[in-house]
Amino acid sequence: MTDNASKTPAANGQGQAMWGGRFSAKPAELMQAINVSIGFDKRLWAQDLAGSRAHARMLISQGVIASSDGEEILEGLARIEDELSTGTFPFRDEYEDIHMNIEARLRELIGPTAGRLHTARSRNDQVAVDFRLWVRDAADRSAAQLVELQKALLAQAETYADALMPGFTHLQPAQPVTFGHHLMAYVEMFGRDAGRFRDARARMNECPLGAAALAGSPFPIDRHQTAASLGFDRPTANSLDSVSSRDFALEALSAASITATHLSRLAEEIVLWTTPMFGFIKLTDAFTTGSSIMPQKKNPDAAELIRAKVGRILGSLTTLTVVMKGLPLAYSKDMQEDKVPTFEAFDALELSLLAMAGMIADLIPNTDKMAAAAGAGFSTATDLADWLVRELNMPFRDAHHVTGSAVKAAETKGVDLAELSLAEFQAIEPRITDGVYAVLTPAASAASRMSYGGTAPAQVRAQIARWKETLA
Ligand code: ARG
Repeated sequence: MTDNASKTPAANGQGQAMWGGRFSAKPAELMQAINVSIGFDKRLWAQDLAGSRAHARMLISQGVIASSDGEEILEGLARIEDELSTGTFPFRDEYEDIHMNIEARLRELIGPTAGRLHTARSRNDQVAVDFRLWVRDAADRSAAQLVELQKALLAQAETYADALMPGFTHLQPAQPVTFGHHLMAYVEMFGRDAGRFRDARARMNECPLGAAALAGSPFPIDRHQTAASLGFDRPTANSLDSVSSRDFALEALSAASITATHLSRLAEEIVLWTTPMFGFIKLTDAFTTGSSIMPQKKNPDAAELIRAKVGRILGSLTTLTVVMKGLPLAYSKDMQEDKVPTFEAFDALELSLLAMAGMIADLIPNTDKMAAAAGAGFSTATDLADWLVRELNMPFRDAHHVTGSAVKAAETKGVDLAELSLAEFQAIEPRITDGVYAVLTPAASAASRMSYGGTAPAQVRAQIARWKETLA
């Protein structure tokens, strides 16, 4: 390797400068086609540079390489960073992946000294640290975007803490709730989602660099130093595990899948609520599209796409799980297939989170229509039953029966519960007084649900205040 090291693959005629020593023929074109990963792992360039810098500095301070060589390497890496950030870096397929592309470029820029950077390192621990850094950033970004989404929901929830809407079970009107309460349900979900990303981060925050190919290194490296300089809590404790585990990515992808599932539920509600039949909310032109044939249409495409993205994201979790299943220790090239699904999942998640936050801020509720719907479908029937229990000391089962009769009477007459006369109520249960009407309005119903976490506006406001403090 050292003899060929300063030559380009074209010059040494062996097609691959990095491991050319053992090989005399170029790889078949198909071999290269299936092997090459630079097309996608170029996205790891910033992480690869960070890992290389940390490694080079450690090699210098441990006396594994001479400081003068180390400084040359660091200067070369700085020039490469320049090229990469300005888009002038020459990515080349023949160098297979981002690690060898950068190392080959370093050799072109500073000469054979470049070859010293790979002392006490392998692409196996190199890719493991690069990918971990990338996933860690992605998890941090997702958690931060979830917080922004929560803030958008909180702002609307605060404005509409009193706005009545029907609460549903089975998508049938169940009991009146407030729009603020409904939005706050998602604040809770997204709060747990952000927590899952934080938990995953804490577990993944160990540095595999220095595990080398699989067994560790005979050089006096300081893995604690590289771990600390890359912001890890500590080095990983088993070199085999270091280069062969990808459960940090699986965990991040499962957090992403759960988040995407929650997003799809909110997206579905936005799709429903914006139909003229519901008419609960409107989106502005910013988050709707028109139809090329039906001029009246305003389609909630962003919501629909968010609803769909979970397929891609959960698909990525499935992909990587199947890639990892049954792999013997330690590194196998199968693991190169970890990146595309992970990148794709987080691209989709990021876009979904940003678009959802935008849509939430954009939506305008039709509070009249929601309030009218809140009273429909005998939504205060439970309130009537509760009143019978409270005021007449009826067992709840009997009260449920009496209320059922009242609903039947109202339905036959084609009116709401509150529109039944006292005589009509008393025909069903003679002890009913006109005090009952106070609990039959949706507003009274909602306001009465003062139990902790209930829909009473006072309770909703308390939860909003708690979250505002948490997110501040
Ligand atoms: N491109 C490879 C990957 O993504 C880097 C590690 C290659 N290691 C090896 N021994 N061939 O996994």
